[in-house]
Amino acid sequence: MEKVNRISMAVIRRLPKYYRYLGELLDKDINRISSQELSNITGFTASQIRQDLNNFGGFGQQGYGYNVEELHKQLGKILGLERTYKAVLVGAGNLGQAVANYKGFEDAGFKLLALFDKNPKLIGLKIRDIEIFDVDHMENFINDNGVEIGIITTPKEQAQGVADKFIKSNIKGIWNFAPTDLKVPENVVVENVHLNESLFILSYMFKEKNRK
Ligand code: NAI
Repeated sequence: MEKVNRISMAVIRRLPKYYRYLGELLDKDINRISSQELSNITGFTASQIRQDLNNFGGFGQQGYGYNVEELHKQLGKILGLERTYKAVLVGAGNLGQAVANYKGFEDAGFKLLALFDKNPKLIGLKIRDIEIFDVDHMENFINDNGVEIGIITTPKEQAQGVADKFIKSNIKGIWNFAPTDLKVPENVVVENVHLNESLFILSYMFKEKNRK
């Protein structure tokens, strides 16, 4: 069950949604669910769900459905959420501060240790209890603290330079909010978050729905 070979990214991208809903079921003390019920709450078809979960050896039993706690635990393992990650963020402006202010990432296991910026007016300030440091000290901080994940919330023109610094400091995972495609070596993973793209999809769906 632990061994996950070459699962398509389309499947992987559905897992966080399963994980979230299963967590909500657990909170409500629901311990067992059929793929049909899971389909009703996630919006994916029951056969899609069975197929997705079969990729990992399948957790369900015919006639029983899924054990919510077990499935939630296994999906958490598959997503790498059974451990915590140390992260830093570069670009402590509007978006960077908003990200840092959200405690939910920490609750999910992503501990933000420090923020970095190049604007002297921001250095020394704290967001919650997380301090903003001069970006010139970032590489040392990353090495001294064993940071594994770097978050980029700088303007796009600066993002590649920040990514290069991360890579030099041995960061292997980058969460990129800047609207640019970063160039990174093969052993570094980048996950882009582009709210604009999501907004454009909303605009498309809105247009289609309201077409006369
Ligand atoms: P902002 O101007 O408020 O903040 C940017 C911060 O980065 C500033 O504090 C600036 O001093 C700092 N900075 C610039 N270059 C730096 C460097 N080389 N090293 C360290 N710090 C540096 O900008 P805002 O509104 O917070 O946007 C930041 C980025 O996030 C932009 O690229 C924007 O396009 C993007 N963005 C992305 C969204 C998304 O959905 N992914 C949504 C909103 C903004």
